[in-house]
Amino acid sequence: MTSAQSVGHPRVATSRRELPAWQALQRHADELHGVTLRALFDQDPDRARDLGFETCGMYVDFSKHLVTRTTMGLLLDLAEQCAVTQRRDAMFAGEEINISERRAVLHVALRAPRDAVIAVDGHNVVAEVHQVLDRMAEFTRRVRSGEWTGHTGRRIRTVINIGIGGSDLGPRMAYQALLPYVDPQLSARFVSNVDGADFVTATADLDPAETLFIVSSKSWHTLETLTNARAARAWILDAFGGDTTAVAKHFVAVSTNAQGVAEFGIDPQNMFGFWDWVGGRYSMDSAVGLSLMLTIGPDQFTELLAGFHDLDEHFRTTPAERNIPVLMALLEVWYNNFLGAQTQAVLPYSHYLEHLPAYLQQLEMESNGKHVTLVGQHVDYQTGQIIWGQPGTNGQHAFYQLLHQGTKLVPADLIGVVQPLSKLTDQHDLLLANVLAQAEALAFGRSEDQLRQAGVPEEEIPHRVCEGNRPTTTVLLDQLSPRRLGSLIALYEHKVFTEGVIWDIDSFDQWGVELGKILATTIIEELTADEPPRLAHDSSTNELIRRYRAARGRPI
Ligand code: F6P
Repeated sequence: MTSAQSVGHPRVATSRRELPAWQALQRHADELHGVTLRALFDQDPDRARDLGFETCGMYVDFSKHLVTRTTMGLLLDLAEQCAVTQRRDAMFAGEEINISERRAVLHVALRAPRDAVIAVDGHNVVAEVHQVLDRMAEFTRRVRSGEWTGHTGRRIRTVINIGIGGSDLGPRMAYQALLPYVDPQLSARFVSNVDGADFVTATADLDPAETLFIVSSKSWHTLETLTNARAARAWILDAFGGDTTAVAKHFVAVSTNAQGVAEFGIDPQNMFGFWDWVGGRYSMDSAVGLSLMLTIGPDQFTELLAGFHDLDEHFRTTPAERNIPVLMALLEVWYNNFLGAQTQAVLPYSHYLEHLPAYLQQLEMESNGKHVTLVGQHVDYQTGQIIWGQPGTNGQHAFYQLLHQGTKLVPADLIGVVQPLSKLTDQHDLLLANVLAQAEALAFGRSEDQLRQAGVPEEEIPHRVCEGNRPTTTVLLDQLSPRRLGSLIALYEHKVFTEGVIWDIDSFDQWGVELGKILATTIIEELTADEPPRLAHDSSTNELIRRYRAARGRPI
């Protein structure tokens, strides 16, 4: 039985729009039109307290959202009518909630404590998870101690993770986030793009004798990763006079496909596995995080997992009205489906969190960019939102103008870290002042009256008015440690899950990315053929192929 049936998902397609809570929210959105955040705060002195929540070392302030108590009540009704709690429990129980791929969705098992039991087909997967973690820790110990050396006996100084999407963005993001925890003797780099410039740039200043490649691909079918892995093997063989025994000392693999890894020439002994119930974009805490474990060490990696688990427990056990990922999801559904927002900005005020927006783009957009419901019916409402952003304060001098005075509704997450990690602590106060100032300015703006009282010339007033009512969530992390990073990422994972349940979609497949991959395999042959190819595409694609061939000196 699939989970869609087991939690009472109707076999006969009904739209979420028909739910009483959805309809009530639609009416409520009309009633709320024109209400200002200033008025909402003036009317309710307890607003900040009532809409502020704390868990896992983070304080999350939802009070600067365009909602009343009624809105929150209706959104919670929607969660109930969409069976969010039951779907959550089905995920934790290992049911096949990934309907289109007929798979369980158990990234929560990756960070479950050693003595936990989570069964898939009657089999406890937690034991396997810890076997792989133990092997990763042992390998890490050998590399960091210098026991594992390169082909010529030199210590490994750089690990290069070759992967893309979920096999790249998580460890890349977390490595940057946790740089202060990285062993200075061992650094990591990340190669993802099939553009050869990526590999060439990453290796330009490296000594092959001190470089270890982690080829990371869940499927072991990904063109970009296998192409870069071949380039890496050629680079190593070139350095060691074609001696293929060097491969074993300079390559390890992370995959679910042992056969593919062996065919590539990597010893399966040097492969770290994971499972089909881990989605690529949910895999940074599996063996996909090997580059991170190598550089921050097993103890800090264990802390990261503990942080994920902390938030899993919050999500699993906290009633919806205090459940932070559920509330976060409901607020985004409110803007997306009832107030017409198209995008959601993520604005981390931390240089270390530089890659968080890119990571969240895959997590959210690959998960929730879907056009049919679980039973295959075309949706008649908006689903996944467009995620974008970059660290503050840089963004303030680029796109915040549009946030403050533009015509688009762009809800934003502002993420601040209380304890500084850099030695320049005065600058940290300045950084945090900007988080709070931006949230305040976006919410309350600056009115004509305020400008007039400040003596602004009358003709300038319309240009300088900031209307406010720009909604934000402020997340204050007490520190950016491995544990807190784990909790922060799990917060977003469960937010994405909850949104997917509300939208009645499969958040765990990604069929949409397949078509482009298939077409590229035909086009690569047409671009490179010695003879002019017989082209059968549309006239635009045919013309682009001919122009490229001509420019590269190939006959057309
Ligand atoms: O972009 C599609 C996708 O399948 C992602 O879901 C995945 O994270 C990425 O490609 C890489 O896949 P793999 O780990 O199998 O190489």
